[in-house]
Amino acid sequence: MTTTHQGELSDRARFHLRFGWWSLLAFLTLGVVLEGLHGFKVGFYLDVDNEVRRLTWTLAHAHGALLGLVHIGLAATLHLARPRGWAVILGARALTIASVLLPLGFFLGGIGTAGGDPGIGIVFVPVGALALFLGVLLVSVSLRGKPT
Ligand code: HEM
Repeated sequence: MTTTHQGELSDRARFHLRFGWWSLLAFLTLGVVLEGLHGFKVGFYLDVDNEVRRLTWTLAHAHGALLGLVHIGLAATLHLARPRGWAVILGARALTIASVLLPLGFFLGGIGTAGGDPGIGIVFVPVGALALFLGVLLVSVSLRGKPT
């Protein structure tokens, strides 16, 4: 492994570590906010008419926190397996895009709900899901062979 390659890898791993830990903090905080909405029995969140908002915000919280953990796992993968090439670069970018779009889409889907339908922001969810699928696929592909 060249020094330059080592440097690039550790920068990328560090980025995903930071991204993961900050995401975890942000979405744990959202969990605390949801807990508060339960504690104060806030109708805007808990009324039967607002079931879609409760579902989508719970999904934003759960996916954001879990994707934060995925980035910490990705950083560990980059450090331990040292994959290189286009697959890991694109895969890591796709995972970052997914980790923004999926929770954002769920969260926005809980704003502007109409009847049983989520708000228009929910459109980010399928795009984020596709990015997540591609990210996981590309990182998996990048792990073929031996570390360099
Ligand atoms: C790594 C950390 C966490 C993960 C992966 C996580 C994941 C999840 C998941 C999967 C659900 C959905 C459960 C279901 O509906 O069956 C959920 C719901 C919930 N979580 Fe978390 N959670 C985390 C931390 C926290 C923390 C620290 C809090 C607050 C102190 C919290 C508060 C809540 C609340 C209030 C709900 C229920 C929301 C509702 O149904 O209205 N979570 N979480």
